[in-house]
Amino acid sequence: MTDAVDSTDQPTPRRNPKPKKAKLAGREMKPSTLMMGHGYDPALSEGSLKSPIFLTSTFAFESAAAGKRHFEGITGIREGGAEGLVYSRFNAPNQEILEDRLAIWDGAEDALSFSSGMTAICVLMLAYCSAGDVIVHSGPLYAASEGFVAKVLSKFGITYVDFPAGATREELDAVLKKAKTQADDQGGKVAMVYLESPGNPTNALVDVEAVRDARDAVLDASCPIAIDNTFLGPLWQRPLEHGADIVAYSLTKYVGGHSDLVAGSIAGAKKWMDPVRALRNTMGGIADPNTAWMLCRSLETVELRMQRAGENAAKVCEFLSQHPKVDGLGYLGMIKDARQKDIYDRHCLGAGSTFSLFIKGGEEESFRFLDNLKIAKLAVSLGGTETLASHPASMTHLSVPHARKQALGITDSLVRISIGIEDPDDLIADFEQALEAV
Ligand SMILES: Cc1ncc(COP(=O)(O)O)c(C=O)c1O
Repeated sequence: MTDAVDSTDQPTPRRNPKPKKAKLAGREMKPSTLMMGHGYDPALSEGSLKSPIFLTSTFAFESAAAGKRHFEGITGIREGGAEGLVYSRFNAPNQEILEDRLAIWDGAEDALSFSSGMTAICVLMLAYCSAGDVIVHSGPLYAASEGFVAKVLSKFGITYVDFPAGATREELDAVLKKAKTQADDQGGKVAMVYLESPGNPTNALVDVEAVRDARDAVLDASCPIAIDNTFLGPLWQRPLEHGADIVAYSLTKYVGGHSDLVAGSIAGAKKWMDPVRALRNTMGGIADPNTAWMLCRSLETVELRMQRAGENAAKVCEFLSQHPKVDGLGYLGMIKDARQKDIYDRHCLGAGSTFSLFIKGGEEESFRFLDNLKIAKLAVSLGGTETLASHPASMTHLSVPHARKQALGITDSLVRISIGIEDPDDLIADFEQALEAV
């Protein structure tokens, strides 16, 4: 093929900049500053201060050789991924700007956006697991994540071993050894350690540092540790600093923050992202341009919103903890268990604004409380500007078998609350009158 066009001679196409570390006067800029402009050059879009929404399915190549070079990147023939924009199932400007900005929050090299949190999690797991492999995961997980492992991956000969959040180093060693034996018996490998911390809906924390140490001792560093950081990220927990390799998000929650979109992401070192990107290229599932644009808008205020919601939650929980009709709180700012408190102190930068409230009684009392709320809306989801309340045992976790729900503490008296950015005294008044009705 001596007469083939050498695609390396072609000029690099014009596209938005990808600065590695944004510095000013030798000082690294903070994420909240970078959210206003990082990865976007107005000069490439008629001076438009904000990025336009690029509603296009495909991108015109500068030349046939440039098209060849881009496809070499997309297909993996050339290392380093796509150098140019190709086709909107693979990459596009709004999604690239969003991914660059998401990576900043977690201190990650690379990030990938998806059409939902579950798409992110499913494509991530599929990219790493083959028939015969074992996934080790913490419990509880968001019910759909747990269901995907137990009911969908199992169809392809992938099994799992789970362990309770809070497991100690010794317990983790034993779990990983069991998983290794199981994988050997099945002719596969331990493909991934998948964590959710805090777990939905109990707020139980996983000791990510202990998981990393156990993985390094029992398995090897080729088995990635992934963690769903939806409840505390990106502000209050930075799992990549504690030994996780990949961080996953439902961006539908705090990052989107206005309960008006559904999206997801993963972030980590490029070597961990590349297999997932390749599968996303094949399957689709990238966030759409409008959602990516909305998320960039949301990222400009994520720190402000989360800080305010966190302050509100502390005030509301202070009130709830004193109330005679309250049986307890699963709030990270009031942990009683010494093991959980130790994990919190080492891993978390804030207590968040999503917690479980245990009402004295059972389903009837919980429903009466929920039905009497006036400001807080009765809806699943969390992390929005508005306060939401739901009943996991009969809603998000309804599909979880009864015995497992009991074992995980997802009881009929558990109401999950996500505090928003309303006035805290108004919220307290609302909870007070709803508790009175119980
Ligand atoms: C912890 C957690 N992970 C993942 C998801 C799934 O995200 P999405 O609804 O964006 O698919 C959710 C949704 O509630 C969640 O709470």
